Order: sequence, then structure tokens, then C-alpha cells
Amino acid sequence: MKGILFLVLLSLCTNSYATAQPKIWNETEEQKQERMAWWTHDRFGMFIHWGLYSSLARHEWVMRYEKIAPEEYEKYMAFFEPDLYNPKEWARMAKEAGMKYAVITTKHHEGFCMFETKYTDYQSINAPLCRKDLIREWVDAFRAEGLKIGFYYSLLDWHHPDFTIDRLHPIAPKDTAEYAKLNKGRDMDKYRQYVKNQVTELLTNYGKIDLIWLDYSYPTGDYGKGRKDWDSEGLVKLVRKLQPEIIINDRADLLDVEGGWDFSTPEQYKVTKWPERDGKRIPWETCQTFSGSWGYYRDETTWKSTRQLLVLLIESVSKGGNLLLNVGPTARGTFDNRAQERLEAIGKWMAVNSPSIYGCTEAPDSFQAPENTVLTYNPTTKRLYIHLLDYPLDRILLKGYAGKVKHAQFLHDRSELKFGDAPFSITYQEDLQKEDILLELPTIKPDVEIPVIELILE
Ligand code: GLC
Repeated sequence: MKGILFLVLLSLCTNSYATAQPKIWNETEEQKQERMAWWTHDRFGMFIHWGLYSSLARHEWVMRYEKIAPEEYEKYMAFFEPDLYNPKEWARMAKEAGMKYAVITTKHHEGFCMFETKYTDYQSINAPLCRKDLIREWVDAFRAEGLKIGFYYSLLDWHHPDFTIDRLHPIAPKDTAEYAKLNKGRDMDKYRQYVKNQVTELLTNYGKIDLIWLDYSYPTGDYGKGRKDWDSEGLVKLVRKLQPEIIINDRADLLDVEGGWDFSTPEQYKVTKWPERDGKRIPWETCQTFSGSWGYYRDETTWKSTRQLLVLLIESVSKGGNLLLNVGPTARGTFDNRAQERLEAIGKWMAVNSPSIYGCTEAPDSFQAPENTVLTYNPTTKRLYIHLLDYPLDRILLKGYAGKVKHAQFLHDRSELKFGDAPFSITYQEDLQKEDILLELPTIKPDVEIPVIELILE
């Protein structure tokens, strides 16, 4: 009897294990690394949130925050007038900032489509003062600058008549009876098909698409949505079938499905270490805004400084990750001055310091970061980069680096930094052990926001 019970339990366990680890894509770990090689190398991309909300100019969630019903909100389509839209300018600014790829909202939660679609009238081509497939021009311009192309597509849709009212919807009611009433006649089967149809358009009408950002799932709690609501497995299979080399983010609620996602997306916070899943380090990209909201928000005053943004980029790379930095263009199709200023300043730094970013990752454990510095490492060129967040006085002590370094220089001008002796001070002589290196630095901080020391390793 006990034996049978044991067998039953065992088979239950193995079955549930098997169902917990379904697989929707056949690929070895090496093949995955190969497919993601450009993304892992490039490290820095531009996110763009642009839609009707840009003309309300008070958050891309304004429809929800101000509880604007779809019939009311769709009136903004008549005023959407991107007369200054010049994606070639955007692409130039992205490239000059050192960004290597870009991801744009083709449709955000509001449901308005910025691309040509057969499945709704709610699209930019029908906006009387626009009349354009904005995505087509964008793809052409960004591709021409050599940037990789990514599409953001919202799984939520607050405009579609079949999308059931859930707790995030602008017209979400307070009680259950009301939900039932509002959802009468809404058919998520039709909505799922709509999503697949549009994703098919996006992944067949614009050539090779390098990355897709599906956003997002909220399956826990009442009136949420997740993999069943989106048919995430079917959707991701479709994406991979249409664009086998594409890279997919992790927001379709398929974290336990092999092939269901490629990288993780910590949003608006700094990770403390390289993120892991099941004890294994995973590819990751943090997405961050300049000022808090993703869409253009005229009156927001919480803009991060260039320095904060650079530190964000450097720290991401130092933990093996990417940074996707967002711009929210105005309704006229321009980047406002605050965004332009920051992009330019980042570009100024990147123009001379990008070797500490591209192709770099976390430094080997055998190198300890000196105080107030962040390390990155290029495993191909075997160079270690020390980012000086706080500029030291005259010299920097590299504990345990002796015997490991062939040559030391600043990165921005590749000027030599000499190995020095301990100054005449008992303390320093005690601090400086034979395993250590002391590098001499000019007293005056070079004219670089965050100076970088490049060490060519043995
Ligand atoms: C969130 C928000 C959204 C934004 C996105 C970017 O999920 O809903 O407004 O587009 O994150 O990561």
C-alpha cells in the first residue's frame, strides 16, 4: 500500500515538474548566447514612448489616472499633429548619445496604433492632422543609422471593445456586479486574435525586427490579466516563428516556460547585483526614464542629471546588464530641450569612453573595486576599466593588482598613468603592500564627467 502511495506521489511530482517547465522553443544555451550576442555587446539603447498621451502631456497613463472613458479619450486623435516629426533627427541623437538600438511604442495601453493596421481605425494614418504610418518612417530612419530595431507592443488595450474591463482599466468599477455588467459582450478570444493579427503585421511589414517588448502582465489579485488572457504561449511562438532571431523581453507571464522570454526588465530601480533565476545569472536590461513618466510630461520637474544617468549606465554594465533609456517625444514629434541636453552630454562622455561600455561586463572576482569606483571588464580585449566616481587626490591604490597589469592609462586620451611609489608617509607605506599598485594621477581632474582608467591586463 505504502509502495503504491509512494509511486502515485512520485508520478504527481514528476508530472507537475514537467508541466512547470514547458518548452516552446528549441535552442541550446550556446545558440541563445549567439542569438543575443549583439544585444549583450551593445549595452545601451533608446526607449521611445510616443502616442496620443504625448499631447495630453501628463503621463502615458493619463487615461487611467484621470479615468477618461475610451469614447472621450479618442477625441484627442483629432488634435494629434506631429508636424515636426523627423525620425532622422531622433536617430542621429540616439546614435550620437552612443545608443546602439532603439525600442518604440507601436501601441501603448491607450490602444492608439502608430503603425498601419488593417484591424482598427484607431491609428495614426486616420488622424486627420497626421495621416502617416509613423513607425514606417521611424524604422527606415533608425535602420539607416545602423541602429537595431525594437518594437514595444502593449498587451493591455483600454480602447478595444473586446478587451475586458479589469482593475487597471480607466473605467474599472468598484464592485463585482458592475464588472459583470461592463464586460457583457466583451470577448477576449477576439482580442487575443487582434493582438496576434497586429503582431503579425508588425513582424512582417517592416523587415527584420531585432527585438520585441511585450508589456505587460498582472495575473495576481482580482481582475488581473496574464498568460491565459494573452495566450502568451501562442503569441510568443508566433513571434519566434515570424522572426526567429528576435529577442523577447519577459513580461508575457512566461517566466517558467523555456523559450518564453530572453531577458529580464528591472524597471526604474538599480539592481544590487547581477540578477539570477534558479541560481543562474540571466540576461537583463534596466529601463529608466529621464524624469519619472515614460510619455512626455510637460510639468514634471524630477529630471535626473547627466551624471546620475551615466552612473546608471556604468553600474548596469558592471553587473552584466544593459540600459534602455527613455525619451518621451512631444506631440509635435520633437525631443524637448531637457532630453536633448542630457543625450548630448551622455554622447560627449561616450564619444571617448565607450570602450568601457561596449562588449564589457562584470569584472572578474580577482579584481576589487577601489573606493568610489565602479569596474567594468572587456573579456575579449582583456582590459579592465576603473570609473572614478569621485576623483581621487594625486594617486589611487589598487589593492591586489600587482603582477596583473601591463599598462595603465586614462581612457579618454590614452595618456599613461605611471606606477608610483608610496609618498613619504608611514600610513601609506603600511597600506601599500607588494601585491598592490599605486597609480599616479594628475591633481586636476580631467575635463570628463566621470574619468575612466584603462588597465591593459597581463
Ligand atoms: C510599465 C508601464 C508603462 C511603461 C513600461 C515601460 O509597465 O505600464 O507605462 O511603458 O512599464 O517599462
